[in-house]
Amino acid sequence: PGATFDFAVRDLSLAEAGRHQIRLAEHEMPGLMALREEFGESQPLAGARIAGSLHMTVQTAVLIETLLALGAEVRWASCNIFSTQDEAAAAIVVGSGTPEAPAGVPVFAWKNETLKDYWWTASQILNWPGADEDPALGPNMILDDGGDATLLVHKGVEFEAAGAVPSPTAEDPEEYQVILETLRASLATDPQRWTRIARELRGVTEETTTGVLRLYQLAETGQLMFPAINVNDSVTKSKFDNKYGIRHSLPDGIMRGTDVLIGGKTAVVCGYGDVGKGAAESFRGQGARVVVTEVDPINALQAAMDGFQVVRLDEVIDSGDIFITTTGGKDIIMAEDMVKMKDKAIVGNVGHFDNELDMAGLARVPGVVKTEIKQQVHEWTFDSGRQNERSIIVLSEGRLLNLGNATGHPSFVMSASFTNQVMAQMELFARHGSITGEEYGKQVYVLPKVLDEKVARLHLNALNAHLTELSKEQAEYLGVDVAGPYKPDHYRY
Ligand code: NAI
Repeated sequence: PGATFDFAVRDLSLAEAGRHQIRLAEHEMPGLMALREEFGESQPLAGARIAGSLHMTVQTAVLIETLLALGAEVRWASCNIFSTQDEAAAAIVVGSGTPEAPAGVPVFAWKNETLKDYWWTASQILNWPGADEDPALGPNMILDDGGDATLLVHKGVEFEAAGAVPSPTAEDPEEYQVILETLRASLATDPQRWTRIARELRGVTEETTTGVLRLYQLAETGQLMFPAINVNDSVTKSKFDNKYGIRHSLPDGIMRGTDVLIGGKTAVVCGYGDVGKGAAESFRGQGARVVVTEVDPINALQAAMDGFQVVRLDEVIDSGDIFITTTGGKDIIMAEDMVKMKDKAIVGNVGHFDNELDMAGLARVPGVVKTEIKQQVHEWTFDSGRQNERSIIVLSEGRLLNLGNATGHPSFVMSASFTNQVMAQMELFARHGSITGEEYGKQVYVLPKVLDEKVARLHLNALNAHLTELSKEQAEYLGVDVAGPYKPDHYRY
């Protein structure tokens, strides 16, 4: 009611609650606030029309309002069906208006979407008013997390070129079938929409490991249709958000979901990359006995040196109390594993997609009974009513539990990630790198180290950290500039 733009969120009356949380988050997001200060006047994103697909949380609200402050227009959806904070979504729609007359921006996100809703929201961020007649009114940038918006555009163009959307096969996951349906409907009404959209896109900036993997695969096969910046591999993103963010939000999700004491339990962490390291450390901090599974000998050796027993899943399947997947791979814990777990074992995933856990197989276990304890917490009972009845607790139906059962990573660490995001948007939107002057081709790039160091610098003051300055002589001796960058590109931190 009263809005001059389209949107779809749960309840606009939550906007005030959302606004209070956003105000407090701003205090914890010094990097984003510094960018508003530095670039608010020069408006480097004026003319940018950003289709954003990233968990619609309070922290993302501060990101969105930073993009607006730099001149951008946005349309936004969440990149996960459970991750939206409805009050944040409402506050962004209402903006400086009121729930009766919203004056913010179009957001299409609510907590507990269906898969069909989800792909509808993904289409809506790419579907700008007037763009069907004039493509220049459509999106010219994507800001992605996990690559779903990028995937939709690439698939849309692929099927438009083929003139048809393929029929799903029995092996296709349910989600892919929904994507095919979404695109079939779109092709039926407008057989060139995605091709027109793709032509206007200057680039995508991608938030997470899994989305970045998809981008490199597209680039390697020559299919990537526009330049991409891999935000994940800024050091101030993956070595902070993936690790220290998970260290906070994983136990938060488990505690809010189950209220089970972690201390003394055996926690099994599958994968010891950046996310796995944060997960293992958080369990240790709570006094759990932590074991790790890995396929990469380097990461396995790291886990061992950090004091964690490295095991194969079958060695601990009937003794573990909490199982968490963090691999970004698939089929990590299968139904035949889950039936062997001990009574009331907790199972969850914080890798980007739900295919780390075999949820489809779990639902097919003969006689299994699913009971909803509360939203995003389900008990799956085996041999129900028999003497050997046992059950396991699955969080967020196998999807990112730190966002489904809790509210994702805290503001401070997301400030570092999102400061990289905003700079990456500025880089690609300017076409010839606003800061670097780089000519971007249809490849995947990372931000230069000097910007990575800048992100870190912007967060030091808030922690009362005092940086030592190199003398000119010391800098010369090390072969670096006094002002940085301080490390060669191959340095690993
Ligand atoms: P990474 O590549 O650093 O770590 C993944 C690790 O899993 C690697 O060391 C790999 O060797 C290992 N692995 C792969 N297959 C395995 C298997 N079958 N068994 C055991 N280990 C296996 O990736 P990163 O950055 O840790 O991200 C992991 C996932 O988490 C990605 O999907 C990423 O998108 C997602 N992510 C989730 C966040 C959240 O808030 N929940 C935050 C950041 C990333």
